[in-house]
Amino acid sequence: MDAKALRSNPADTLELVDPRVVSLTDPSGAAAEQFRMLHLRLDRARENRPISVVALTSAVSGEGKSITAANLAACAARRGRRAALVDCDFRRPAVARLFGVDSSDGLSSLLAGKTKLAQSLRKGPFGLDILPAGENPEDPGSLFAGRSFTALLEELRGGHEEIYLDLPPILPFADALVAAGTADGVVVVVRNGGTPAEQVGEAVNALAGLPLLGCVLTACGEGAAAYRKYYARK
Ligand SMILES: Nc1ncnc2c1ncn2[C@@H]1O[C@H](COP(=O)(O)OP(=O)(O)O)[C@@H](O)[C@H]1O
Ligand SMILES: [Mg+2]
Repeated sequence: MDAKALRSNPADTLELVDPRVVSLTDPSGAAAEQFRMLHLRLDRARENRPISVVALTSAVSGEGKSITAANLAACAARRGRRAALVDCDFRRPAVARLFGVDSSDGLSSLLAGKTKLAQSLRKGPFGLDILPAGENPEDPGSLFAGRSFTALLEELRGGHEEIYLDLPPILPFADALVAAGTADGVVVVVRNGGTPAEQVGEAVNALAGLPLLGCVLTACGEGAAAYRKYYARK
């Protein structure tokens, strides 16, 4: 294992992690394998151009952005990358709970100049840096458009190879679009059988001009697991 992966002892923090962060809680399972594949695909995209900041968004809420972002960040940390996960969804923050870290302050207090990055980051398993959302500010869109968010991303880029932004959904809120504009790559999460195709299309159209990396389909059942069993038998 890469020395960087040993920066924190996973046993200290793993028991606090939500079981849905399968990349940490069930790394040998079929779902974790899918997230590893997704992470490898991002690496493939990185061969063409540098991609440090990856934003995850979706058309509407409840499509699986937070779980996907948490697992991608966890994959990166497990592979010894210096990785950070930033919760940008002030209305429905999820990241602190997923990793069992203190949610009392975070991105909003940082952007308001009340705290410094070094004090705001929480340490997760395998050295993953976690920045919770913090209090819901009045106008998140203007916060993301402001210089302090750009400066924060620059500071994060300085200390991290991979930064994952867990954004709000695109269709109901302007702030998601503003925040997506700061990323090197945007991933659209789509809930299988959940979101009408027109809404997915609308979301993708809204992101026009941004560096779209692709879509991730969630809630796909056990198809991949069945394939793995078949493969193992051969
Ligand atoms: N890949 C997945 N397969 C099945 N269910 C999922 C998946 N990802 C997330 N979920 C479930 O979908 C719901 C919403 O997930 P969440 O990540 O909080 O969505 P969002 O951040 O887009 O609002 C949760 O109940 C979560 O357990
Ligand atoms: Mg979420």
